[in-house]
Amino acid sequence: MDGINTAIVGATGAVGEQMRKIMQERNFPVKNMRYMASSRSKGRKLKWRDSYVEVENLEEADFSDVDIALFSAGAKRSKKYARKAAEQGATVIDNSSAFRMDIDVPLVIPEVNPEDIKENTGIIANPNCSTIQMVMALKPIYDEAGIKRIVVATYQSVSGAGKKAVDELMQQIKDFQQGKKCKTDIFPHQIAFECLPQIPQSDAFGENGYTTEEMKLLNETRKIMKDENLAVTMTCVRVPVVGGHCEAVNIETKKEISPARAREVLEKFPGVKVEDNPEKQVYPLANSSWGRDEVFVGRIRKDYSVKNGLNIWVVADNLRKGAALNAVQIAEFILKKKTVN
Ligand SMILES: NC(=O)c1ccc[n+]([C@@H]2O[C@H](COP(=O)([O-])OP(=O)(O)OC[C@H]3O[C@@H](n4cnc5c(N)ncnc54)[C@H](OP(=O)(O)O)[C@@H]3O)[C@@H](O)[C@H]2O)c1
Repeated sequence: MDGINTAIVGATGAVGEQMRKIMQERNFPVKNMRYMASSRSKGRKLKWRDSYVEVENLEEADFSDVDIALFSAGAKRSKKYARKAAEQGATVIDNSSAFRMDIDVPLVIPEVNPEDIKENTGIIANPNCSTIQMVMALKPIYDEAGIKRIVVATYQSVSGAGKKAVDELMQQIKDFQQGKKCKTDIFPHQIAFECLPQIPQSDAFGENGYTTEEMKLLNETRKIMKDENLAVTMTCVRVPVVGGHCEAVNIETKKEISPARAREVLEKFPGVKVEDNPEKQVYPLANSSWGRDEVFVGRIRKDYSVKNGLNIWVVADNLRKGAALNAVQIAEFILKKKTVN
């Protein structure tokens, strides 16, 4: 194959922008690149390598000549257009929550379960950002010692809610400093100088009291790890950080694993970087993960409240490994195995 006809759906968004960037950085072998977004963006020109590509209106787009389509325009758009794109011959890698739990849709982190990619019917789902980074850190520990139970609290940056959410935080900081009332549009309350235990911002809470983001962490982790008995309990919190999600993860293992051994297996795992030197105040930080590809793990220590327990701190760039990079890695894997439709 001498190059792939590629489409980025949601090319104007926060994740779409990173997809464009990462495909160029990694020299993804694109023959023809197409960008799609809403009617609002039709005709806008966005850079691709040394030239510009005009954004098409997704509603009018035909995917017959597309080999791989990266969808990142929200679940509603994916539900409406991704199947159509797959039927027209594209292999869709979908970043939204639309198909993640469908039985015939693999949910893939290439370092964790690449073998699932081939069982697709034209759509492969990218997990949620908070799931990807947590599972990247759990997998080597799971393989070494087994995992019984996970207790996780997330500290998620505002870029996880898209470009407008970052603008809202910045505007609120200005307004707050000038003593003005902060306007809220994207978030349900002021996010500047605040922590909100509600992700996403609308339709967040289910009947069981958990948010949809929290249920994603539970259900997606079990699906990727192929372990329906894995106990996971979680609280997801939005914090006024621009980029990079943090997670405090408590792990109860089946067999004993020392912090030193956990460090060793984490260090060997592709895509994970251990930053753990508390004496020198070295541990992962959201701001230093921003723009980086790795999932950073630190504060690795024993949990003395149970027989076999560990506490870790996991940080990653939500737009890169949490979204765009993972999708591009899936596309690369498909190319390597030549499993394009
Ligand atoms: N941000 C993250 O950390 C993250 C992580 C994992 C997954 N995701 C998922 O990735 C998707 C995109 O998120 P984002 O953060 O990039 O959001 P965003 O910055 O708000 O961008 C949304 C994109 O969707 C497009 N879009 C909106 N309505 C559309 C319509 N009616 N038809 C066609 N395109 C439409 C927008 O195009 P216009 O510019 O024309 O409006 C824009 O390109 C979401 O499904 C999100 O859940 C995000």
